[in-house]
Amino acid sequence: MKHIMTKICLLGALLLVSNHTVAYQSPSAKELHKIRFQYQMFCQGCHVADGRGGKDVPDMRDHIGAFLTIPEGRRYLIQVPGSANSAVNDADLANLMNWMVKEFGGDSAPDGFARFTSEEVGELRKSPLMEVTEYRKMLIQKIALNNGKATEESE
Ligand code: HEC
Repeated sequence: MKHIMTKICLLGALLLVSNHTVAYQSPSAKELHKIRFQYQMFCQGCHVADGRGGKDVPDMRDHIGAFLTIPEGRRYLIQVPGSANSAVNDADLANLMNWMVKEFGGDSAPDGFARFTSEEVGELRKSPLMEVTEYRKMLIQKIALNNGKATEESE
């Protein structure tokens, strides 16, 4: 019995490590304060307080979470120049993006989506996207073809 328990625990630990996915959790009041402030300072000028965007700036409302249904869409949210090249550090950008997905995305994100971590964001923003418009179109087609169902990395 003890043996089995050890095995189960090991398996659990392995899953945690290999997936490095931790489901989204609401930020604390203190974190939330910082997130909102940073959004106002660094993002809102283009994205507008409620995420509706404007000319050339996409509307994130009820839709930004859909990018999380495909792995390259998830990467896109951080590699897009507005995110990758922003003045906020990796941990703050992770918190900001997790919040934006919830705040603006409505039901568009998959249930229990894995939150962005500082490490993931740090890796991704090393390679910001250059050509966004066409790439974004391609992602949206791919997401539509999946009918909003989440897919896993195929590599
Ligand atoms: C100078 C204007 C500007 C600022 C400031 C800005 N963005 Fe953006 N953002 C854009 C534009 C324009 C796009 C559309 C893609 C592109 O052309 O880069 C975009 C797209 C995005 C997207 C993808 C949304 C989609 O539907 O494709 C995310 C996520 C994003 N920005 C996050 C941020 C974050 C986080 C910040 C603040 C740290 C920020 N942006 C600041 C202009 C801006």
